[in-house]
Amino acid sequence: MTTSRYRGNPEALRSLVQPDRVHRDLYISQEVFELEQEHFFANTWNYIGHDSQVPNAGDYVTNDIAGRPLIVVRHQDGSVKVLMNRCAHKGSRLVSAPAGNTGKFFRCPYHAWSFDTDGALRAIPLKLGYEGTEMAHTEAGQGIVAVKNVRIYRGFIFVKLNDAGPGFEEYFGDSLSSIDNMADRSPTGELEIAGGVLRFTHQCNWKMFVENLNDTMHPMVAHESSAGTAKKMWSGKPADAPKPMAIEQFVPFMSDYKFFEDMGVRVFDNGHSFSGVNFSIHSKYSGIPAYEQAMNAAYGEEKAHQILGLTRHNTVYYPNLTIKGVIQAIRVVKPVSADKCVVESWTFRLKGAPAELLQRTTMYSRLINSPFSVVGHDDLQAYRGIQAGLYGSGNEWVSLHRNFNEAEIGKREVTTNGTSEISMRNQYRAWAKYMTLTMGGEQ
Ligand code: FES
Ligand SMILES: [Fe+2]
Repeated sequence: MTTSRYRGNPEALRSLVQPDRVHRDLYISQEVFELEQEHFFANTWNYIGHDSQVPNAGDYVTNDIAGRPLIVVRHQDGSVKVLMNRCAHKGSRLVSAPAGNTGKFFRCPYHAWSFDTDGALRAIPLKLGYEGTEMAHTEAGQGIVAVKNVRIYRGFIFVKLNDAGPGFEEYFGDSLSSIDNMADRSPTGELEIAGGVLRFTHQCNWKMFVENLNDTMHPMVAHESSAGTAKKMWSGKPADAPKPMAIEQFVPFMSDYKFFEDMGVRVFDNGHSFSGVNFSIHSKYSGIPAYEQAMNAAYGEEKAHQILGLTRHNTVYYPNLTIKGVIQAIRVVKPVSADKCVVESWTFRLKGAPAELLQRTTMYSRLINSPFSVVGHDDLQAYRGIQAGLYGSGNEWVSLHRNFNEAEIGKREVTTNGTSEISMRNQYRAWAKYMTLTMGGEQ
């Protein structure tokens, strides 16, 4: 690979994405990865945290988006601010813990400049030393840089670092109905993060993980060793035998092709999608009577039935958030390099719901998504295989032809059969757009 093949060359980047296939450099080129950090992730709306992580004034969490260090903090007035974790003086990180409470202000650990929780410069030791200098008229005097484009939707905090590109509503459109459904599953309409995070390092490009969320041609193959074993263990049991929760969660991964075809997939403009339009691998979970009662009491039977009847599989909020509303679990992908990413699993409590719901969520995270899971390792192995295999010569392209139809291009929303590779094509069309949006040249 040559370096600088893509920098300053939006046309070359766009040519990596064809309507029905993509070039391997999307996954293996470190130069493409660095340009993604600079441009793509700064031009798109990314999930950065949940407001239940910062309930009190001064609470903060730190995170990186697009290679920029950020702090999400609850300001004194109750609003949530997102600040660059970069001191206005000489650039030190202000906080290094993943989470904490900073009180009324941030105090830099290097020379003790202090800043309000909205970033305003509050005090400098021996301030007289700046008299007669230009400091107050430069960036240093302005305090901590605050991110302007911040939006909280049903508790989910999103940021867009650049001003380019669409506003929040236009960017996500009707795909937000999956977040609505996840929050509506609480009798009070509210979610809160429960417990800590499970971080799972993947030796693969971040896009392989995101693609796989709506890849329904792989479960019955890649998960045969895990889910298939669970299925065999359970076979022969009488139909009315009470199913252990783990069996309920494992076995649907082994559903046949027809099941996944009929499940359906819906894609939205800007790379978002969900599978499970009609039903999903979560549809047959046993009921929890105390929960259903609480939902009926909160919403009335009809509305409660409607909310619980929506059993979508994974929803991808392109590029970095994927959610499973039915089981109140989310996964967030964090790119590290061209061939490495970290997948974070977070579990949520439905406020006002019985404890069994959280048990179901944590069991699912443990069995399917976590670093000590069973099913997740099948996927990990598949991604590692792709990351290694792509170096083979004689074919530099990844095929996404399955059920391709030219008419799908440019539509704001398409619903089609569940085994189509449309969700991946849709992601890459958005990738090409937001990767090159701030590069000048032809759009
Ligand atoms: S670098 Fe923060 S006060 Fe000097
Ligand atoms: Fe999988």
